[in-house]
Amino acid sequence: MSKITAAITSVQGYVPEGKLTNADLEKLVDTNDEWILSRTGIKERRLAAKGEALSDFGVKIVEGICKKRGITPEEIDMIIVGTITGDYRFPSTSNVICDKVGAKNAWGYDISAACSGFLYALDNAKQYIENGTYKKVIVIGADHMSSIINYSDRATCIIFGDGGGGVLLEPDTEGFGIQDSILKADGSGRHYLLQAIGGSVEPVNKENACTPGMYVHQEGKTVFKNAVKNMADVSAEIMEKNDLTSEDIDWLVPHQANLRIIDATARRMGLEKEKVMINIEKYGNTTAGTIPLCLADWESKLKKGDNVVLAAFGGGFTWGAIYLKWAYNAK
Ligand code: UT7
Repeated sequence: MSKITAAITSVQGYVPEGKLTNADLEKLVDTNDEWILSRTGIKERRLAAKGEALSDFGVKIVEGICKKRGITPEEIDMIIVGTITGDYRFPSTSNVICDKVGAKNAWGYDISAACSGFLYALDNAKQYIENGTYKKVIVIGADHMSSIINYSDRATCIIFGDGGGGVLLEPDTEGFGIQDSILKADGSGRHYLLQAIGGSVEPVNKENACTPGMYVHQEGKTVFKNAVKNMADVSAEIMEKNDLTSEDIDWLVPHQANLRIIDATARRMGLEKEKVMINIEKYGNTTAGTIPLCLADWESKLKKGDNVVLAAFGGGFTWGAIYLKWAYNAK
């Protein structure tokens, strides 16, 4: 019997309609369009509407995938969600999405790996397909960053936005799909990018409820240094491990945290800009959402057989790279 690989057979992105431009941010904090653009590459981000939850992003993503692939929600076996901004601390947003879309035969869970959440979830989902347990697993990477951002902190509010995307994974016996993955973590980096209050270390109480610890804290320089090194290293490592040269790679799909980090990774891989998916200017950093959002934006350009490398770095620290062979030509 030929080996089963886990192939992406459909992609769907979702961003809310609300926009937050650099000009809008100039009114909120001491910053300016020139600084934001030159330091990060971001022009605007999307903001969820009042009452719009992460599961609502997920519903749009799952419905889009089902429509494109011509399947019903009842056919989905699992939904795995990479996110740090779920609807609730519990239950999982996967459970909520399954309920809202009517995926009555599915189960799932959320994975917390910050900006690497989609890669961690994709690697996780791959196992269920490769070992023959399931035939249709949806992997979502999405974040509702506006729910945990302090819009008076210029170190973070200029970077993050809301949105995400998802993919359907199905078995393939012709060798397309996920070929290899390298995932890493270093928990000693937790102090540099975190939401300190609200967990069991410091539960919310009357005294701390409105303090900065309730929101994302980032020591930008330290995270930047680690991101540049580790995202580039792991991307080079996956190329080496799979005997891939820069000519062999058709697309790099990098986490969209900062254009300078993306450029450093592409340089290390020897890739020209045309092979790198970049949409940070439109959406900012949507944490676990950036990679599937790129795949959705570039779906029409991806061709069956393309060699694609996904790479991310984020809070935790977490990072990794996944190498896949694209499995279809978009209609
Ligand atoms: O996605 C998960 C992982 N996250 C990342 O990968 C993000 C990594 N970090 C970064 O992308 C960058 O560190 C930032 C974009 C967050 C900051 O850029 P930076 O080049 O590291 O700036 P900095 O913090 O070193 O600040 C440089 C200067 C400082 O002024 P002085 O001391 O040189 O006079 C800051 O006070 O820029 C100032 N500054 C700002 N000015 C205008 C810092 N933030 C801002 C701002 N607007 N928003």
